[in-house]
Amino acid sequence: MNKLTLGKSLFHYFFTVLIFLGFTFTSASHIAAQDLDVPYVPTPENVVERMLDITNVKSSDYVIDLGSGDGRIVIAAAKRGASGHGIDLDPERIAEARENASSEGVDDQIMFMEGNIFDTDFSEASVITMYLLPSVNKKLRPELIEKLQPGTQVVSHSFDMGSWKADKKVVVKNDGRSHDIYYWVIPAQAEGAWSWSYNDTDFNMTVNQRFQEVSVKITDNTDTFFDIHKAELKGKRLTVRASNGDQNYIFSGRVEGDKVYGMMQHHNGQEKNFSQWSATKE
Ligand SMILES: C[S@@+](CC[C@H](N)C(=O)[O-])C[C@H]1O[C@@H](n2cnc3c(N)ncnc32)[C@H](O)[C@@H]1O
Repeated sequence: MNKLTLGKSLFHYFFTVLIFLGFTFTSASHIAAQDLDVPYVPTPENVVERMLDITNVKSSDYVIDLGSGDGRIVIAAAKRGASGHGIDLDPERIAEARENASSEGVDDQIMFMEGNIFDTDFSEASVITMYLLPSVNKKLRPELIEKLQPGTQVVSHSFDMGSWKADKKVVVKNDGRSHDIYYWVIPAQAEGAWSWSYNDTDFNMTVNQRFQEVSVKITDNTDTFFDIHKAELKGKRLTVRASNGDQNYIFSGRVEGDKVYGMMQHHNGQEKNFSQWSATKE
């Protein structure tokens, strides 16, 4: 190979490498619309503020926005003192969100990470925000319930979670359009057979649970079924109001794995007694 041919080959080689790098760079910084599970549509600012009001976001919160777009929800949360991060599949959105966080002066509180919401761990959140699609919410639902700590708040713009009924729904107007906001609290796992003793009486309680909805049966050592006046599970808190003849009870405690810790009230028609309540799941 003479010098001219060698020069031409080297030129060719470097030119090809440059084109390849350029192509790789360009294709890595763009994502085709069909690769996204949800197209980019930003949540109006007043709807964002309302989502953060409903979840009462404060400085102790860690907020994760699933599909964070230009970062506006996490940025607004950071302005309330919270920390957190956003995940988005689109690198352009991530770059935009990082720039916005920096120009808003909150980039030391929050981060934006390129990634797929179906492959990322979001279990550290105390508040999850989302503006996705009904089918995506439904696909995420088991992940949210299994991976998030009981008591974690979840708020979704526009779309619900199918048969997982929202704890709250709020409608916000913007530019003549109505925006639905749905709100849930991740429930503890209270389902099962619980038992405890009080005043020489053994209590047995069976809890059936579907999401945050619970139905309860209570018996004592006489095997009488109590009348249940209220059974409620809000995050970790389980509250049951029950009676057996003229014996009235309120049990209210925090579910922590196989234990419940709390207080109980016993009213026998004459006086009310208050004591600590703890129950164990079999
Ligand atoms: C409707 S926008 C919502 C943006 C922002 N959360 C807001 O409320 O303004 C949905 C976002 O989800 C992103 N997205 C779509 N599919 C995704 C996926 N599988 N993983 C992560 N982000 C995704 C899109 O790029 C887009 O920015």
